[in-house]
Amino acid sequence: MDYRIGVIAGDGIGPEITDAAWTVLEKVAEKYGHHFERTDILMGGCSIDATGEPLTDEAIETAKKQDAVLMGSIGGNTSTSPWYKLPPEKRPEAGLLRLRKSLGLFANLRPAYLYPQLKEACPLKEATADKGFDLIIVRELTGGLYFGKRHTESLNGVIQATDTLTYNENEIRRIAIKAFDIARKRRKKVTSVDKANVLDSSRLWRKVTEEVWADYPDVELEHMLVDNCAMQLVRDPGQFDVVLTENMFGDILSDEAAMITGSLGMLSSASLNETKFGLYEPSGGSAPDIAGQDIANPIATILSAAMLLRYSLDLDEEADAIENAVRKVLDDGIRTRDILPREGTDQVKVVGCSQMGGEVAERI
Ligand code: IPM
Ligand code: MG
Repeated sequence: MDYRIGVIAGDGIGPEITDAAWTVLEKVAEKYGHHFERTDILMGGCSIDATGEPLTDEAIETAKKQDAVLMGSIGGNTSTSPWYKLPPEKRPEAGLLRLRKSLGLFANLRPAYLYPQLKEACPLKEATADKGFDLIIVRELTGGLYFGKRHTESLNGVIQATDTLTYNENEIRRIAIKAFDIARKRRKKVTSVDKANVLDSSRLWRKVTEEVWADYPDVELEHMLVDNCAMQLVRDPGQFDVVLTENMFGDILSDEAAMITGSLGMLSSASLNETKFGLYEPSGGSAPDIAGQDIANPIATILSAAMLLRYSLDLDEEADAIENAVRKVLDDGIRTRDILPREGTDQVKVVGCSQMGGEVAERI
């Protein structure tokens, strides 16, 4: 079959990790008789440099025409890059937020799984790592603090900045439904994370989540405060199955969840709307400090490509093939620098970003 896949390479390590993932997709196409037509789309700092805008209207139109979009990462060093001297709505991240909003990508799925082969790279206590974990964060992506009204003003000579956190019940309901549907296909437990001891928006979150739960008597629901959740993730991540949460909490908790899998370079993600369309990206950032050195870990992007095949193109067998190939690569002791075992590198083969792509592709 023919499919149209948009590629937003972006900034920093984005181009290298998307190229590595594309090598894997090409191999899938060859093996299973598909054609993936690649259309590159500018977003982020590279788009600012080329057009003056982090995301142009044309780029959004092009993205809409694709069956799915694979993304690398956007943004630069927030202290030193000239992009951060621009007003907030002109900065690289504004492009990503605009894309999420214009495509209605309200559901962000971030699975965090500790590969047994990477226990050594897990920063948690050995006994905790030995138990393993397999959870998925379901993050609301188009509401909350990220999209609330904000402004900075001077009041009697004192500068003051305001951000607002708003959720309506419909926004909460649709993401809660997503989380319960996903839980049904997994271990049937939803942990809804909020700050209901302080925030009104969290109290509404709890109420609506409970209403949705009424339709899922086979799924267990627990509520957890976000500070406790941050703590439980490093104490006993094995307790979680589906973690449902709002935009900002999900941003923070998903970096934490990624890190305990061994590296930010292992966590894939899918951002979905009400249709089959999705934007697929690693959860990690653009890592400008290691960009262009061919040492980044492309596995999160490769696993994001697998999610793309599964959720947007319904190519489950092909998605399985990628996930199995990643497992084989790890079994074979092939590692990028970020996932080395603590006890030295004697037992492993250290590779760069593009070679990692090639090694996964070879095992498809
Ligand atoms: C993420 C990123 C983005 C976010 C940034 C780049 C705006 O951190 O996808 O987690 O905060 O959502
Ligand atoms: Mg983040």
